[in-house]
Amino acid sequence: MSYIKTQIEALRIEIKHHDYHYYVLNQPEISDTEYDKLYKGLETLEKLHPDLITPDSPTQRVSGQAVKEFKTVRHSAPMLSLENTYSPEEIKEWHIRIAKILPDKPFEFIVEPKIDGISCAVTYTSGILTMGATRGDGETGEDITLNIKTIRSIPLSLTLPEHTSAFPRTFEARGEVFIDKSDFNCINETFLNKGEQVFANARNAAAGSLRQKDPKITAERKLKFFVHSFASLNSELKFETHWDFLKTCRNFGLMTIDKTKLCKTIDEAVAYCLKMQEQRDKLPFDIDGMVIKVNSLSQRETLGTTMKSPRWAIAYKFPARQATTKVINIRVQVGRTGAITPVADLEPVECAGVIISHATLHNFDEISRLDVRIGDTVLIERAGEVIPKVIKVIETKRTGHEKKVKVPEKCPECSGNIIREKEEEVAYRCINPSCPAQLAGALLHFAKREAMDIEGLGASAVNQLVEKKIVNSFDEIYSLNKETLIELDLFKDKKAQNLLDAIEKSKKQPLSRLLFAFGIRNAGEKAARTLAENFITLDSVIKASAEDLTNIKEIGPVMAESIKNFFSQSKTKTLIDKLKSAGINTTEPKENIPKGGIFSGKTFVFTGELKTLSRSEAEKQARKLGGQTSSSVSKNTSFVVAGENAGSKLSKAQKLNIKIITETEFLTMAKKEN
Ligand code: IVH
Repeated sequence: MSYIKTQIEALRIEIKHHDYHYYVLNQPEISDTEYDKLYKGLETLEKLHPDLITPDSPTQRVSGQAVKEFKTVRHSAPMLSLENTYSPEEIKEWHIRIAKILPDKPFEFIVEPKIDGISCAVTYTSGILTMGATRGDGETGEDITLNIKTIRSIPLSLTLPEHTSAFPRTFEARGEVFIDKSDFNCINETFLNKGEQVFANARNAAAGSLRQKDPKITAERKLKFFVHSFASLNSELKFETHWDFLKTCRNFGLMTIDKTKLCKTIDEAVAYCLKMQEQRDKLPFDIDGMVIKVNSLSQRETLGTTMKSPRWAIAYKFPARQATTKVINIRVQVGRTGAITPVADLEPVECAGVIISHATLHNFDEISRLDVRIGDTVLIERAGEVIPKVIKVIETKRTGHEKKVKVPEKCPECSGNIIREKEEEVAYRCINPSCPAQLAGALLHFAKREAMDIEGLGASAVNQLVEKKIVNSFDEIYSLNKETLIELDLFKDKKAQNLLDAIEKSKKQPLSRLLFAFGIRNAGEKAARTLAENFITLDSVIKASAEDLTNIKEIGPVMAESIKNFFSQSKTKTLIDKLKSAGINTTEPKENIPKGGIFSGKTFVFTGELKTLSRSEAEKQARKLGGQTSSSVSKNTSFVVAGENAGSKLSKAQKLNIKIITETEFLTMAKKEN
């Protein structure tokens, strides 16, 4: 028994280590498959020995039943808010005020991004996470411990820092629960596909996810947590500065805010705030300002707090990114899948330094939900570099002359029919396969940075190439020449050459990007990477059965069907032949494939009749352990697994001197790893 206990504890430590590297440091050390193996190993042992389960076991992140209501909890010390400032002058006024209280000692400042998330407190008792609570009214909040436990960047137990003998009896860290912009976009995309109401911004998505009564739903939402302050420090934890506090938090295994800076003067602090204002769109999460904090904790004590906020800190809020304006028209755009997206043309309005003249309305269900009409005054919001959204209609501004809009019957680009393919789908689509707008959208997607990365092939070039029927499919991009490009008038000699160079360079992109560039329905960037990592060559992806596809953890039946459907079309087959003759790379380079697994770097060919496994099961087994599979023997083949009646592949392997093994030998090798 004690051996099992030791084994369980070792697995927990290992999983915790990898959780920290993956979720806190964003530097995974092992592949997902290897992680899953550790996790499943722990789960199995705990199932056999349920008495050994502890609340801080990684398997206990999603535990407990859905609750009807959250319990109320009183905070150990009030959760205050910050005083806001809106200009460098106001920040300097704050500095003058605090310098009057503490005239002789210069201040050092910590400047942190102000995360646009949900304020929460997490309490550790002797190193174990025992409570997670929302801010509520500042005095009392809600007990959301079960939901907090699902957040992977919050350790269930702290790590004991070096040279420390014991955990503090209680340690209450305060911070912000938030969701990265990319994860927020994924949630909204899923909701849109399911016809559900989308979240207006990442903050609302984080709030909605955190307050789910069922922790299983919260667990799916990829929430994160940054520590930014503490309740009050007990005698066991003594820090001189906020900087030290943040360092200890990191040593405990908690996540502190990226881009936090120690500034020696208020001018340096102001300059940093303004620099981050410029860079806010480049951060992976939303921030709505910066927080300037006095670093020295003894200086903080002297400065004290008012009823509502500490005197030792101030928020610098970035200019608002919302504005009100009038809807002049509502028109539709046709995307690469034929989906019709309504767009509101607006009376131009300034919003945080940018003039906005249109906003997306997502789909016609969204128009009904907002009840937005032509002529309405609306509130818009600009988040990041994406197209602004309409948040709500200001109904008090209605005159009665506003006009409702209907779903168009014909595509505005090609007059093709517009239908809703399935009752449960939100999107209406133009179903004309030769619609030029769809082709233009598909080409733009093919060329974009995350796909084939063809710099210079932007909207205006693509529209012209489509309109003049010069490019009618992806492969025709690769037959473009300088004369044609210059004739278009869009390109001068140098620009044309740059584009041709970018096109040439794109031929070397890895398979994962090519798969993403195809724009297969329901298969996004992550799915493309998964496919490439698992199948290595385009031919293997094409040959994969629906079962081979769904055998991969991240690929569900809907995605598998879309992938099969895409590759079974004769149009796709012709396209791939043409892309191959243009010299496009169709494999995933080794360095992109996560290391790990006994078969990593090895290629297997299965031939003949296998006794215990089907061909696809055997291939799956090889891939699961990090190997690659292929249907043909070449000098790159590592092993040929030969069953009964093996024919030409076996003789080719003999000729090339490739190692030939039996099915039993293959299974023995695989077992060693399992
Ligand atoms: S320090 C007042 N630092 O902004 C207690 N707060 O009104 C000390 N916030 O709800 C807070 N990012 O949760 C601090 N880097 C940061 C922050 C931050 C976001 C939130 C905080 C509070 C609100 C201030």
